Amino acid sequence: MAYQVLLPSKVFLLGIVLWLLASAYISSCHNNQVQKHFSLSSPEKSNIQEEKKEAVSEEELDSEDLNVFYPTNQWQTLQPGQAVPAGSHVRLNLQTGEREVKLPDGEKYQNNLKEQKKGQRLDLNTHGFTTQELKIALEKFKEGAGGAKEDKARQEEVRRRFRPIEDLKKDFEALNVVIESDLQIMVRLISQFNSSSTTLEEKIMALYDLEYYVHQMDNAQDLLSFGGLQVVISGLNSTENLVKEYSAFVLGAAFSSNPKVQVEAVEGGALQKLLVILATDHPVTVKKKVLFALSSLLRHFPYAQQQFLKLGGLQVLRSLVHEKGMEMLAVRVVTLLYDLVTEKMLVETAERGQDPPEEKVQQYRQVELMPGLQEQGWCGIVSGLLGLPEHDMREKVLRTLSALLTPCRDRYRQDILLSSTLQGLRDEYQELAALEQQDGEENGYFQEMLGTINGFIQELR
Ligand SMILES: *[C@@H]1O[C@H](CO)[C@@H](O)[C@H](O)[C@H]1NC(C)=O
Ligand SMILES: *[C@@H]1O[C@H](CO)[C@@H](O)[C@H](O)[C@H]1NC(C)=O
Repeated sequence: MAYQVLLPSKVFLLGIVLWLLASAYISSCHNNQVQKHFSLSSPEKSNIQEEKKEAVSEEELDSEDLNVFYPTNQWQTLQPGQAVPAGSHVRLNLQTGEREVKLPDGEKYQNNLKEQKKGQRLDLNTHGFTTQELKIALEKFKEGAGGAKEDKARQEEVRRRFRPIEDLKKDFEALNVVIESDLQIMVRLISQFNSSSTTLEEKIMALYDLEYYVHQMDNAQDLLSFGGLQVVISGLNSTENLVKEYSAFVLGAAFSSNPKVQVEAVEGGALQKLLVILATDHPVTVKKKVLFALSSLLRHFPYAQQQFLKLGGLQVLRSLVHEKGMEMLAVRVVTLLYDLVTEKMLVETAERGQDPPEEKVQQYRQVELMPGLQEQGWCGIVSGLLGLPEHDMREKVLRTLSALLTPCRDRYRQDILLSSTLQGLRDEYQELAALEQQDGEENGYFQEMLGTINGFIQELR
């Protein structure tokens, strides 16, 4: 019941936030000074952000991170990354390390909200609506903002109709609402995380919120300016698994397609720390996020790839793939290797004098990936994963098998198990593709899989 009564307030708050953001954006186009206080995306950055969007999509598409959890009156365990409806009670169970959630006690929640209305400040992160909701709202807002900038006349019109941001700020000061810039928020979150007087739950919440901000390239670089990145990197050394997990989560987002941050992280020892966690006894949830951070750090950064090989990274990944309970990570490892192999190949086979520059080509030449993969038996490890049950896993393994054909061809030709697995898959997909065609679907998914398998069998001959 409390929900229905409270919903309008929530919408009202969200409305204020969006209205403010809209005003901030419009004013920032005309007033550089104001722009300093509101670090919303500026037009020149839209290309970079497109790229970043692509780069982070893997983690965002992670089904685990898209779940919405609907709480009841009982405490229930919340999976990492699950969103909850606004106003739910979330607590950290320090015994199990899990977050738990339930519906709020109606009366208490209403009182909270009354206080909040009188309140001291509007904290964008924790009150009224979930971070998840805000993320979506901000995304929507930014998309809208991008379109608005193309329409100058309309912008002028809007500007005339809205009051300057300074006026708005005065109004909000009168309401006791404080608006922070992204940098201020990040400084606050980092010091909250770094402080010895914060509880474990508060530290995790700080990291969870921080992850949202560092998706933006310039925000992640700002993190360097006040030592914030190093603080998060040292979070990997925590004795708490949850701190390791969420630190890796933040780092993975910050590294992604962000060379400045990647360089600083390698210099700050992030690579060793990530590998140590993967090589030692940790829950799969921790290793999953650490693998995500490692992948972001290595992609498009040949220097880190060299260091990774020198530090015995391939051996660490090999043990990880064979470790009991880590099966779900095997496909992620294979995907990372596929990315590294194809990235190197694309750079090295590009026409000379074109993009990429010669220096970059030289750097990739020094990444001795193929010999390492061959020596350590990755040909067999990857082909062994073809027995996995899910179609999309098989698809990724097949893709990687093709990419590894140069070093692995001889081995694969003599591999009796591999050829019988391939025959089995061919039969299976022939049947599935036939069913697909009966349903009137030409060039369907199974047809494509069948083509890939036949193509690979052909290549092996
Ligand atoms: C984090 O805490 C340490 C020790 O308390 C302190 O020396 C350091 O300056 C802090 N770093 C940041 C970025 O707040
Ligand atoms: C972090 O951990 C690594 C090994 O796990 C250790 O060598 C290093 O000294 C630790 N650093 C700090 C600051 O505790």
